[in-house]
Amino acid sequence: MNKELRQAIIAGNWKMNKTRPEARALIEELKPIAEKATCGVVICVPFTNLETAVELTKGTNIKVGAENVHFEKSGAFTGEISADMLTEIGVEYVIIGHSERRQYFGETDETVNKRTRAALAAGLKPIVCVGELLWERECNITEEVIARQIKLDLFDVSEEDLKNVVIAYEPVWAIGTGKTATAEQAQEVCAFIRATLAKLYSKETADAVTIQYGGSMNPKNAAELVAQPDVDGGLIGGASLKAADFGVLLEAASNG
Ligand code: PGA
Repeated sequence: MNKELRQAIIAGNWKMNKTRPEARALIEELKPIAEKATCGVVICVPFTNLETAVELTKGTNIKVGAENVHFEKSGAFTGEISADMLTEIGVEYVIIGHSERRQYFGETDETVNKRTRAALAAGLKPIVCVGELLWERECNITEEVIARQIKLDLFDVSEEDLKNVVIAYEPVWAIGTGKTATAEQAQEVCAFIRATLAKLYSKETADAVTIQYGGSMNPKNAAELVAQPDVDGGLIGGASLKAADFGVLLEAASNG
């Protein structure tokens, strides 16, 4: 196993949840819990909570991420936020290409690629999400779908830049549904992603990439999932909204 070659990261994806006072309370509760973690700890929060999160986590082991970023540097893009705007306030990570953005907001592999490159150019660490639909899994084309997403989403990303990319494998049918991929299914696809990266770049670089699983990961199933040889932590929706649950996941990934 090559797990020691890369960092396991548990990243919370708060989605469209938590007002500022609620965010404050959750982060304060999380701080002493996260302190014990030896895995990477990231919370990706709505734009309105970014400054609060950066402020409150200063001097702790919790890093802050955004949930999206635009690919242009500035200009007439009403409602959008640029990568420089994020780094300027101390944000370090950004989720890109989450299936909810692909499904509801017209995100395509082309825009995921543009956002990923813009994020990297600004010094942000993108968490690039890939995953198959239930129908695609049933048609036995999971690997084709994933390989295509990896190739397109990382088009023109250099080997050097890949070191700052986190991949999240999130089967769309497992997100927010309570249906988790089995540990075997998660391992199979995460290993396939690593093999695809090895072909596109090199084995050495692929071995160093953090590949998370995401989709209904919770305190009950986390330990088994993160113990898989190619699963390096998780991207967590629902279970990131309760400090105690998130704490169990951090412990699992720290031991995984
Ligand atoms: P979930 O969400 O843990 O609530 O399934 C995961 C995600 O959407 O990143």
